[in-house]
Amino acid sequence: MAIITLQTMSPEDISSVVELDRLCFGGLWNSQGYQRELESPNSDLLILVISENKEKIAFTSSNFESNSGYNHQSIIGIGCLWAILEEAHITILGIHPQYQRLGLGQLLLYALMRSGWERGLERATLEVAASNTSALSLYHKFGFQDVGRRRGYYQQTGEDALILWRGHLHEPEFEQVLSEWHRQVLTRIHGFEVTWEKLKVENLQSQVKSVGLANQL
Ligand SMILES: CC(C)(COP(=O)(O)OP(=O)(O)OC[C@H]1O[C@@H](n2cnc3c(N)ncnc32)[C@H](O)[C@@H]1OP(=O)(O)O)[C@@H](O)C(=O)NCCC(=O)NCCS
Repeated sequence: MAIITLQTMSPEDISSVVELDRLCFGGLWNSQGYQRELESPNSDLLILVISENKEKIAFTSSNFESNSGYNHQSIIGIGCLWAILEEAHITILGIHPQYQRLGLGQLLLYALMRSGWERGLERATLEVAASNTSALSLYHKFGFQDVGRRRGYYQQTGEDALILWRGHLHEPEFEQVLSEWHRQVLTRIHGFEVTWEKLKVENLQSQVKSVGLANQL
């Protein structure tokens, strides 16, 4: 069985996270950037770690070399929130390309929104490339609205960024919204037994198989 753990990032995760950042964003932040975030009391850095047990790895030919280790773990998701005054700025949200479309991005977004709520913040905001339809669809699903555009925001491509906004985090009804999102997140990735720190993924293997990644688990 593969287990996914949702946890706070630690300094020892930096090199793996920088590698994941490179895969997801082409190298947005380097190790100093992540170190800075880890030291900031205003940042929440969350990661998704996938663990596979020895038995599983032993029978998976592509991972045969891992046979001697008890557990093989890799970081497959990263999310970051900056608390600035009453706003939650979502600065990073990425899922390893081989694990996308399994409901894990929305799991991380839910966790970040929950963090913002626990900090007592009033609204969430972020910038996203105008052409990033996957991310836009995800954010819209969580009630974000497009409120502005920064022209030529991305230096390398010259592409515009859209500014997205999601208010009402501090209102009493938001707790109910969080419960509903929690339910939706679980429905999307059925088979998860969820606690805040540890998510048991019993059926992820079959979902991964369906997108041709059986040997990854
Ligand atoms: C954006 C990203 C985080 C989504 O993660 P994910 O794990 O693939 O997304 P999920 O499986 O949780 O999907 C949640 C929702 O996002 C949207 N979505 C995700 N991938 C999509 C795609 N390829 N096409 C259309 N919608 C998509 C859908 O609304 C989806 O809901 P649904 O499954 O009910 O259709 C991921 O694609 C990623 O890491 N991209 C590269 C980095 C990036 O662009 N980050 C955002 C920067 S602001």
